[in-house]
Amino acid sequence: MQNSSHFKIILPCHFGLESVAKRELINLGYQINSVVDGEVTVIGNFSDVIKLNLCLRTCERVMIEIGEFKATTFEELYQNTKSLKFEDFVGINDIFIIKKANQDKFSTLHSSTSIQSIVKKAIVDRLMAIYNTNYLPEKNNKYVFRVKFYKNNCSIRLDTTGESLHKRGYRKTAGIAPIEETLASAIIYLTPYKRGRIILDPFCGSGTFLIEAAMMAANIYPGINRNFYCEDWIQFKKNEWNEQREYYKKIIDYEYIESNEIKLYGYDYDSNMIDICLKNAKIAKVDNLIHFEHKEINKVFNKEKYGFIITNPPYGERISDIDVVNNAYNGLNKLYKSLDSWSMYVISSNEKIKKYLGRESKNRKLYNGMIKTYLYSYIGKYKN
Ligand SMILES: C[S@@+](CC[C@H](N)C(=O)[O-])C[C@H]1O[C@@H](n2cnc3c(N)ncnc32)[C@H](O)[C@@H]1O
Repeated sequence: MQNSSHFKIILPCHFGLESVAKRELINLGYQINSVVDGEVTVIGNFSDVIKLNLCLRTCERVMIEIGEFKATTFEELYQNTKSLKFEDFVGINDIFIIKKANQDKFSTLHSSTSIQSIVKKAIVDRLMAIYNTNYLPEKNNKYVFRVKFYKNNCSIRLDTTGESLHKRGYRKTAGIAPIEETLASAIIYLTPYKRGRIILDPFCGSGTFLIEAAMMAANIYPGINRNFYCEDWIQFKKNEWNEQREYYKKIIDYEYIESNEIKLYGYDYDSNMIDICLKNAKIAKVDNLIHFEHKEINKVFNKEKYGFIITNPPYGERISDIDVVNNAYNGLNKLYKSLDSWSMYVISSNEKIKKYLGRESKNRKLYNGMIKTYLYSYIGKYKN
């Protein structure tokens, strides 16, 4: 396939946050091709694959669609898969892996492992015929394919990312229940946060919200310090990965980082977590921009008139018992009462939150991993 060819690029995101991913993509200069639950699609070329891997904050991976077709029988699945041009990517010596299929309850074909092995067989048969061989050694570059069924439509995608994009590389250690970096970023995008405004996280854990906000403020794109599956593929122009990485490093706002402007505050009653935050923020090169402190929620305060509490308190499901939860939410209520003109955004699966906070909120359903949560938004008097 030519470097200039255009194709569908599929970007999975958190369920319920498609509109945020869409906005992020538009801001990066893309027109949206389509949106379905948990996925946004744009059209682009290999340069876009690099840009999206390096820049996206809210999506999970960058996939190239190889083809889409209807399949209600395994024979249709085999024949339609075999008709796709896998040789555009996979060379005679390359490794190719098919991940376990992802299918919905509306599709006729159910067995994820059977789908996986039929797709593999179809690709093997196609490549053997194209390369005129009866042996594929699978020893060079690795190509990973993902298969998705939705209402009998099968879409075969090539994963260019590898480890999910939420792995930025700065979080070497985390607590028991860290929020994914992509979800933390998407939540920040749901608030009116912009550089110069205050964010306070009284249950900061490993510091994810604050580090993500600081990276936004300093114009640090999240993928610039990690690696991706597709970096060695021959489809990319020589040096383009290096050139794009260098460009995004050059546009970091180093002056702002060196200004030491502290507008981001993180607290946790576990001193180990504060040590972890300091290390993580240093790796992300935003330690100048965040104040982390070992403090119990009941001792947290702030004198600024306007700001945002953005936080992920203990849910009471995974890491804490009822006393911890009572203390945490009562403390949060007290803190928010002392910051009356602020706005507050709380992601939690604890549906008793209204009882603790005693006021109306806008609630948005989100999934934090497998846990159903809500983002409870309390809008303060902040204008602008
Ligand atoms: C769900 S975790 C936050 C995870 C964080 N968002 C991250 O990405 O790592 C909740 C945090 O609240 C802290 N915590 C629980 N009760 C607290 C309290 N009363 N005061 C301060 N921190 C508390 C815990 O130590 C834990 O790190």
